[in-house]
Amino acid sequence: MNMDIVLGLQWGDEGKGKFIDLISENYDITARFNGGANAGHSIERNGKRITLKMIPSGIFMKGVQNVIGTGTVLDPVSFKKEILNLQRFDETLQPEKNMIISRKAHLVLPTYKLLDIFMEESPDYTTIGTTRNGIAQTYSNKILRQNLRVGDLYSSDFKSRVEHILKRDYRLLASGDMVLPSFDEISQEFFEAIDFLKKFKCTETEIYLNKALSEGKSILAEGSQAAMLDIDHGTYPYVTSSSTTAAGACGGLGISPKKMGEIYGIAKAYCTRVGNGVFPTELFDETGEEIRMKGNEFGSNTGRPRRTGWLDLPALKYAVMINGVTQLVLTKADVLSGLKSVAVCTHYELENGTIEAVSGILPESARPVLKWMDGWNADFSKMKSISELPKELTEFLAFLEEELAVPVAYLSTGPGREQILKMK
Ligand code: IMP
Repeated sequence: MNMDIVLGLQWGDEGKGKFIDLISENYDITARFNGGANAGHSIERNGKRITLKMIPSGIFMKGVQNVIGTGTVLDPVSFKKEILNLQRFDETLQPEKNMIISRKAHLVLPTYKLLDIFMEESPDYTTIGTTRNGIAQTYSNKILRQNLRVGDLYSSDFKSRVEHILKRDYRLLASGDMVLPSFDEISQEFFEAIDFLKKFKCTETEIYLNKALSEGKSILAEGSQAAMLDIDHGTYPYVTSSSTTAAGACGGLGISPKKMGEIYGIAKAYCTRVGNGVFPTELFDETGEEIRMKGNEFGSNTGRPRRTGWLDLPALKYAVMINGVTQLVLTKADVLSGLKSVAVCTHYELENGTIEAVSGILPESARPVLKWMDGWNADFSKMKSISELPKELTEFLAFLEEELAVPVAYLSTGPGREQILKMK
């Protein structure tokens, strides 16, 4: 059996949650391999929407085992809140029974979230526009080899090691003018959350997952954030701090690249981004605002308005290339419905006159070359078959397939769970 992967191909918020929710019932296991509570995967259950941050999207599926893998960063305080919230949403949920956590996943300590805010607000550092979940601080402490992992919470000196780090960070935070919560307050909240976390099985998830594959079980690896936010390949420094790519799924879960199956890449029919950073096709006009309002483009994690712009093919080609995408899932084409014409950026023209058709660099000076196509106008709300798709949208999809050399396998036609068409 192989591991299939679902990944975002732009700057996040492509609608991964909905697609994963749709297909996760076909798998035995869903596994998160990167990121932490910075993610916001919205799914629909019994007509109500819920946003998952740290918890894998298979959590509501009976018979699906969920794994929080080694490449993730786990914030015990946020984890506890999320689980309690999910249990309020669905009283039958028993996550202790269908979720396991890697002993090697790194812990987000409460001071990391304070340091995230501190750095975002200090003129001494570049402001990234983070979600303020302490993601970069956790991954950087991991790389510095100064951090604690989930497995450490069983060691006898865990409390003193945590307090050592918290005190060290408090000394640094005291150099700024931030109003800080009391040390006792954050420390008490953290250790209460650790007691809660101990109810869950923490184990060597690499061994669990590889054994599952050898027994013929299927795994869906669930990416968070997206290709253009990848720490290595994204629009650095305005990126997240983890590996968001297909290769990141192998590293983050401890599964060989030889065992990869389908790689589903999710992209919107346009682009959005939250936080700072280069965005060559960004729209600052009424169309950009219309897309934001119609597409409800407000961060599911932070509520921030998302920046909007036309589809960026050079960046999308790059994302397809570095991930080896085998099937494309296009979302939110319905949001563009009613526009007379829609644009796609096919190339960038750089200052020195060169043209780039595939790019992961996206220089500030890149001038997007737009191809205008006829817009579509249709009622997507009840669409059941691809034969009902407007001709202009079919042409748009054919153009994307030709440019990207990947089939559009699914087309999402609205926010509802059932609003998706299987194209191939
Ligand atoms: P961080 O991951 O919180 O450190 O934020 C770094 C950058 O990634 C910021 O621009 C965030 O807005 C962005 N980001 C992080 N997680 C997500 C996500 O799940 N969707 C979209 N953008 C994200």
